[in-house]
Amino acid sequence: MRFPEYRARRLRRNEAIRSLVRETTLSVNDFIYPLFIVEGEGIKEEIKSMPGIYRFSIDKVLDEIKESLELGISAFLLFGIPGKKDEVGTSAYMKEGIIQRALRTIKDKFPQALLITDVCMCEYTSHGHCGILKGEEVDHDLTLEQLARIAVSHAKAGADWVAPSDMMDGRVARIREALDEAGFSYVAIMSYAVKYCSSFYGPFREAAESAPKFGDRRSYQMDPANAREAMREALMDVEEGADIIMVKPAMPYLDIIKMLRDSFYHPIAAYQVSGEYAMIKAASKLGYIEEERVMWESLLSIKRAGADLIITYFAKKAASLM
Ligand code: PBG
Repeated sequence: MRFPEYRARRLRRNEAIRSLVRETTLSVNDFIYPLFIVEGEGIKEEIKSMPGIYRFSIDKVLDEIKESLELGISAFLLFGIPGKKDEVGTSAYMKEGIIQRALRTIKDKFPQALLITDVCMCEYTSHGHCGILKGEEVDHDLTLEQLARIAVSHAKAGADWVAPSDMMDGRVARIREALDEAGFSYVAIMSYAVKYCSSFYGPFREAAESAPKFGDRRSYQMDPANAREAMREALMDVEEGADIIMVKPAMPYLDIIKMLRDSFYHPIAAYQVSGEYAMIKAASKLGYIEEERVMWESLLSIKRAGADLIITYFAKKAASLM
């Protein structure tokens, strides 16, 4: 590969050539669109740190899903923000909980939509931790039972996939077992296998009112310094029956996506999280970067690293420009 025999620029001369030799392409089929659902009616309130992203009441989220389906987006990741929280996150598994009602209403209206639910407790607990506490520590075994109960309640209400994001050991196996026992062997588990204890979740915690009231999540989420540990987490979840493994956040952890891609045959999802979205939005608002171009480049980088599915707040915008 020596100049002048080899000239890299030959294959960059025009768009016709570039599009022929392009190695990675994005499609609307790659996207999963996260949605925040709140109690009430007629609500569509923008999240301050995430322009273009809203909290919807159930009646309003129907419009958003309809528009998204028309743009070709078929998968949605649903987060519920309950009216009432308590120590053990009861509203996370109630038949009349926010997510359960949302699932039934959405499925009824749009049976073709693929509905994925976040299985976690932090939005539902008064203390904001992702499990049931004993003192200031998460009681692991009690939490697993609660997570299994939540997952089954989602499946009963119509969830196609469940996505446990709590990072408790053994939860994939426990959830699989509970789903199978309840007759939901076809409900897939997309596990947040490699979820880092990241500061990029800041805007989400504002949106979902899920910031821990004391302490942090370092005793259950992963240390950003670790890569080999990500392999152990992914191995564990795959052995326990995860159908899809996720890396989260996405852009600061492209090396991890690539590593998993090279080591597993399962589909890999990557979550471009709230902070990644907020940074692009804020910088473009200030005129420092061009939003659209940076959006495409960020999504492309995640796909190029090896993600099959991209969970992104840009889903609707990207789809509308395709
Ligand atoms: C729930 C959960 C979080 C996110 C997804 N599920 C927050 C957290 O772990 O604190 C973050 C998503 C985002 O930042 O967009 N545990």
